[in-house]
Amino acid sequence: MLNLICKTSLIKSVLLLLIIVGTTPLTGCSEKEEPVIPVTPPVVETKTLKEKAKFPIGAAVTVAHLKEADFANAFKSNYNQLSAEYEMKMKGIWTSLTGYSFDNTDYLVNFALQNNMKVHGHALLWYSSFPDWFKTVAYDSLNFENNVKTYIQTVVSRYKGKIVSWDVANEIFADDGTLRVESTVYKTFKDPIAFYGRCFQYARNADPDVKLFYNDYDQVLNSAKRNSVSKMVERFKKAGYPIDGIGDQFHTTIWTSKTTISNGLTDIARTGLLIHISELDIRVNQNKSDSYVFTDAEMIRQSDMYKSIVESFESLPQAQKFAITTWGITDKYTWLTGWWHPKEYPLLFNSNYTKKKAYDGFLSGLK
Ligand code: G3I
Repeated sequence: MLNLICKTSLIKSVLLLLIIVGTTPLTGCSEKEEPVIPVTPPVVETKTLKEKAKFPIGAAVTVAHLKEADFANAFKSNYNQLSAEYEMKMKGIWTSLTGYSFDNTDYLVNFALQNNMKVHGHALLWYSSFPDWFKTVAYDSLNFENNVKTYIQTVVSRYKGKIVSWDVANEIFADDGTLRVESTVYKTFKDPIAFYGRCFQYARNADPDVKLFYNDYDQVLNSAKRNSVSKMVERFKKAGYPIDGIGDQFHTTIWTSKTTISNGLTDIARTGLLIHISELDIRVNQNKSDSYVFTDAEMIRQSDMYKSIVESFESLPQAQKFAITTWGITDKYTWLTGWWHPKEYPLLFNSNYTKKKAYDGFLSGLK
């Protein structure tokens, strides 16, 4: 009997041993070795926009903002081209028929030259920036043109070799592609396009090397306006009026179609001219809501839109990539809090000058 018990418990303990041995992996030799997948650390972009881009990265600035150290430092560290948000327009410079105020423009140009930046002039002619004194006189077409010719030659020759490019004309066309009737040019000239063509020539005469641009908004979104612009370009080429580039302002939104933007940009580039994304900012507060919150999800949508726009620009022929300019640098100072809604966050830097996800989106869109 005892024998039997011993045998049974021996068999049991052998069986138990076999079970234990069978299921416990011996150290170092697991049954199925899990492959060690090397975790590649995420590539942290250390370059700034101006360091990575193969074309100038500009921003619209004002004298007052440049006198703020945080603004000036963020601008100098990340951008290498300057546009004047409003101080290089006629209203800011042309104080009377023979009176010119160049203090602000000189300040902006000197700041740029001292910081190895290019300057894009904005804008010689804009229906919204003719000085009140000029409009009040209501010159006939001959005197109108002679005075404007003198203005263009005075300003362009003053900054010859310092300002590399000018928006000679801004926003000639209405959204349906017809000429803007509210423009004092439209009211004065039978053939406004020919007048603008001659103004491009006056700028060229003042500085043979300066790049001359036509600038407008929503050309990539609006085929009617786009067609009018390309017809004007064709007419200029036939008439021998100089034009080197087209600027599309790109005051856009996170809810705009990326495909429409990309197709429109490709279409504009068919002119063969230099292409400037000249006033880029991306709105987020679609419903102009007072309770709008700029959530993480919205920040990512904005970052994606910046990335998409930069990628569309990068898909253009290199020789046509003039520059990408943002209309300001920080959400602290943007025209959109006045024009659209106080709760707007359209730019690449937060109000405390820290980089937003938008900055990373822009950067990752660059080749
Ligand atoms: O800074 C002065 C202030 O000292 C003065 O008290 C006040 C009252 O006159 O004016 C202030 O200057 C205003 C400036 O914005 C700063 O806020 C100018 O009057 C005002 O004309 C200027 O508006 C500019 C607007 O163009 C007209 O020039 C905006 O900053 C600028 O963002 C806007 O930019 C335009 C582009 O040129 C063309 N595309 C559209 C874009 C947005 O409208």
